[in-house]
Amino acid sequence: MKPHKGCTVIFQPSGRQATVSRGVSVLEAARKAGVNIATRCGGKAGCLMCKVTVEAGEASAVQPPGDVERRKLGSTLNTGIRLACQAAVWSDVTVQVPEDPLKAAVRRKLEAARRGEEDELW
Ligand code: FES
Repeated sequence: MKPHKGCTVIFQPSGRQATVSRGVSVLEAARKAGVNIATRCGGKAGCLMCKVTVEAGEASAVQPPGDVERRKLGSTLNTGIRLACQAAVWSDVTVQVPEDPLKAAVRRKLEAARRGEEDELW
């Protein structure tokens, strides 16, 4: 039997990746890859800040949601959203990480400023 090579988790949009053992949480894989996923509850399914999206068609590459995750996410699970702290990696997978809210706010401001400049040009 071939030795298990581990699971490669690719995080988008950064493209960073980490190889972890089967059963490691997506959150731990993100830390290993240097990808920042905000958390407040320390990985206990309490803060719901660690939501990520598992690419369509790769749902089976992470362990099916357990009772706690089902209760917390409800029908959102159907859209591919998972709690990074609860979802265990099962095989190679690509995960979408939402933009940091602070960075998103800065980006929106910069874009608005840029649009403002363009307005002045016209
Ligand atoms: S880290 Fe808080 S819910 Fe996952």
